[in-house]
Amino acid sequence: MFFHKKLKFLYLLIMTTISSIPVLANDPHSTAKPDEAVVQKLYLDINVDFGKKIISGKAQWTIKKSASADAIHFDTKNLDIQKVTIDEIENPWKFSWGKEDEILGHELIIPIKSNTSIVTIYYATSPESAACQWLDQSQTAGKKLPFLFTQCQAILGRTLFPCQDSPGIRFTYEADVTVPVEMLALMSAENPTVKNNSGKYHFRMPNPIPSYLMALSVGDIKFQSIGNRTGVYAEPSMLEKSAYEFADMQKMLEAAEKLYGPYRWGKYDVLVLPPSFPFGGMENPRLTFATPTILAGDRSLVSLVSHELAHSWSGNLVTNANWNDFWLNEGFTVYFERRITEALYGKDFADMEAYLGMEDLKETLKEFEKTPDATCLKLKLEGKDPDDGMNSIAYEKGYALLLLIEKTIGREALDNFLRKYFDSHAFQTMNTEQFIAYIESDLFSKFPGAEEKINLKAWIYNPGLPTNCPVIVSVKFNDVDIEFQKWMDGTAPKSLRTANWFTQQWLNFIDKIPATTSIARMAELDTTFKFSATGNAEIADAWFLQSLTLHYSPAYIYIEKFLIEVGRRKFLMPLYKEMMKSAAGKELAMKIYKQARPNYHFVARQSVDELLHWKDGL
Ligand code: BES
Ligand code: ZN
Repeated sequence: MFFHKKLKFLYLLIMTTISSIPVLANDPHSTAKPDEAVVQKLYLDINVDFGKKIISGKAQWTIKKSASADAIHFDTKNLDIQKVTIDEIENPWKFSWGKEDEILGHELIIPIKSNTSIVTIYYATSPESAACQWLDQSQTAGKKLPFLFTQCQAILGRTLFPCQDSPGIRFTYEADVTVPVEMLALMSAENPTVKNNSGKYHFRMPNPIPSYLMALSVGDIKFQSIGNRTGVYAEPSMLEKSAYEFADMQKMLEAAEKLYGPYRWGKYDVLVLPPSFPFGGMENPRLTFATPTILAGDRSLVSLVSHELAHSWSGNLVTNANWNDFWLNEGFTVYFERRITEALYGKDFADMEAYLGMEDLKETLKEFEKTPDATCLKLKLEGKDPDDGMNSIAYEKGYALLLLIEKTIGREALDNFLRKYFDSHAFQTMNTEQFIAYIESDLFSKFPGAEEKINLKAWIYNPGLPTNCPVIVSVKFNDVDIEFQKWMDGTAPKSLRTANWFTQQWLNFIDKIPATTSIARMAELDTTFKFSATGNAEIADAWFLQSLTLHYSPAYIYIEKFLIEVGRRKFLMPLYKEMMKSAAGKELAMKIYKQARPNYHFVARQSVDELLHWKDGL
């Protein structure tokens, strides 16, 4: 009996030790087996066919294998695999299909010889390849030529090219891309700045990147330089507006470097896409993809550029090992973003955004009251689409944790730590457990008592917001409080002191409008401040949400127009969600979505389809 107990104890001890060792190759969203054979270098030779909405060509992978490996495993989804060859031999080589899964796609298994170093896959995407959004000319600003952009995060890379689609696997690449001669092609790589007459473009990405950072865009695109290392690409009619909006890009880059060390990617440009782009921004290396909804005309929404730029360190340089560690990418990036914002525009400005972020977080926490596991920083996305785990928790709870660390040990110590963290893990992956071990030994050990005060593991592994969460105050919102109270007490909107308010102050004002407000008072606000017709998409979105909640119907035609034109998921979801709360709203949602759906990218469609219980053809 005694002996058994002892054995059991020993067994438990061994098991807990083993399970606390991070296994890097273990990504539940990839079928790759990097311990056996892993990609290192890609040569992509592809043709972009707008008529067929297909990309076809070859992906030639240089691989590294273990001595015993007899196959290499790739992720694919909706790809037509036409031929496989190995090494220098042109004859078709064998391949087989492995696991098939609705979320993960189809595993491609290619047998390899003991000395195989090159695997070439001839393939074509299909019009169902979710990474690609093919826009016809009417969906562009210029209305003259079609447009293509890709979006690979989180696991859509496998629909663009056969790859080992895990953020823990990195490769360098070169690409030859053939496009219609009237168009310019751009990638997450060294890019051309002008069109040529051949329609053939060569790209090079000499730094190793994970597959989710692969990106391609093709269209009527022009370039304008901002600084010696920064510039902006856009459709010709959007170029001037974009260059005006992003005038501070070079300063952002310099501020970022001053905080956390050299920018390692050479150039930093932004591509402004048509409005159907499903995200605010995507941190494709060297070339952030961005929504045009940040072009407010007054540079008030440029934090998005700081955010995507910050990913050049947190995310692109030190990358989450798999999507369960997503907070390591986004939480750090929001913290870094706000530090850049503070450096350029001052603490009061950054505090407004932090405050709005916290409000957002509180909303999300409420939303997940019944599924609290989703509010942990470390996620459990096995068996789920990682896209489902990507909400403001990683961003804002992650930010709040870093802010708490800053407040506990001081800014200087945190900055020194982060600089070293990015430097010593450059071009590597990081998981939550490795991060905990690193910060404990490298930082907390120097600050006795800090770890108990912060309680890092509770933040990471427990749901909700710990009680030691820093309180975020915004002095600029005090002005809003005063004017808002006046309005609540009956002052007419035109008598409020709102001159020179920032976008963020307007957002704060609109968010406060209570559910009991009369239609007449909504109309009064609208007449004075022209919210429904505003060209500022953030303000419009906040106002539209209130309009739907309060059934302020004069805004509905503007909502319809907005939802048909804009495909940014962050804007769509709250509006459709609100509409789904009433029978009349549901009807409106269906009517709008029917028209809007063809404009949305796959990821936006997927989310709205589910929300509206949409079935094709209805
Ligand atoms: N990397 C994200 C976008 C993303 C996340 C795409 C998860 C696919 C899956 C990007 O950096 C991001 O966070 N964009 C935000 C803007 C930001 C200012 C919070 C967005 O799109 O709204
Ligand atoms: Zn981000």
